[in-house]
Amino acid sequence: MNTTSAPAPASPYGTLPPASPLAQRKPVSLPRLAQLHAAGEKITMLTAYDATFAAVADAAGVECLLVGDSLGMVCQGLPSTVGVSLEAMRYHTESVSRGLHRVQGTAWLIADLPFGSYHESPEQALRSATVLMQAGAHMVKLEGGGWTAPTVRFLVERGIPVCAHLGLTPQTVHALGGYRVQGRDDAAAQTLRRHALELQDAGAAMLVLEMVPAALATALTAELPRCATIGIGAGKGTAGQVLVMHDMLGINLGKMPKFVRNFMDGHGSVKAAIEAYVRAVKEGRFPDDAAHAW
Ligand code: KIV
Repeated sequence: MNTTSAPAPASPYGTLPPASPLAQRKPVSLPRLAQLHAAGEKITMLTAYDATFAAVADAAGVECLLVGDSLGMVCQGLPSTVGVSLEAMRYHTESVSRGLHRVQGTAWLIADLPFGSYHESPEQALRSATVLMQAGAHMVKLEGGGWTAPTVRFLVERGIPVCAHLGLTPQTVHALGGYRVQGRDDAAAQTLRRHALELQDAGAAMLVLEMVPAALATALTAELPRCATIGIGAGKGTAGQVLVMHDMLGINLGKMPKFVRNFMDGHGSVKAAIEAYVRAVKEGRFPDDAAHAW
């Protein structure tokens, strides 16, 4: 059997970055992510919206790439994620997937189900998820708890891996009254905990926890052995971390969230900055809990 991997094809836009030793690994799969989770090794995730940045992040060793609906703000200049369409998500998921294939990438590819694409019924969610899976996603992400659990179960039972998302759920920013920390008081923390347990029970393999108190995120992580928590503004006690790539590269059209670190500081290339992020997460040096007031 020939085990030598073929060289990456030449790019008309310049040479794509070679894989770093960190990235010399097998394709990331659901069992591999469960293994990392069980072993207590932090899982690294970044958003990606196009082929080239996806290839660079993969070469830098990021395990999971999220085609987040944050592309509405980052790529489309929208005021929130509410206006992002399923067609936009399909286009960017396909672009990222192609970028990964061009460099024999190994990252696990997650795509956001956008606002309105899974709210009507589990059947609608299945139709929307099918579009993203056929565009190259390995897993879909959806926001919210309670009413979403039957939808998660419906998708998982049909072979679609699901990442849930609780805490600050940007698609409901108008109902939440802004981009604020969630789960601060006891009642809100209890609801969040109940939703998280229901989502794990429904089969969600991952759970993004956005802007929740670090103590709550740490406690939930311990209670969810079958669902890896991925924090963003949720302290360092989660099973993994995610950031919007443009934020961690120090480029943001709006206000930089307080929990973000600019990894371009002291690094001469995007790849070096992303490698620094991967190392910092793996070694527990990011996030810095002192950067969280909550
Ligand atoms: O859309 C997105 O980028 C996200 C992350 C912030 C988790 O959902």
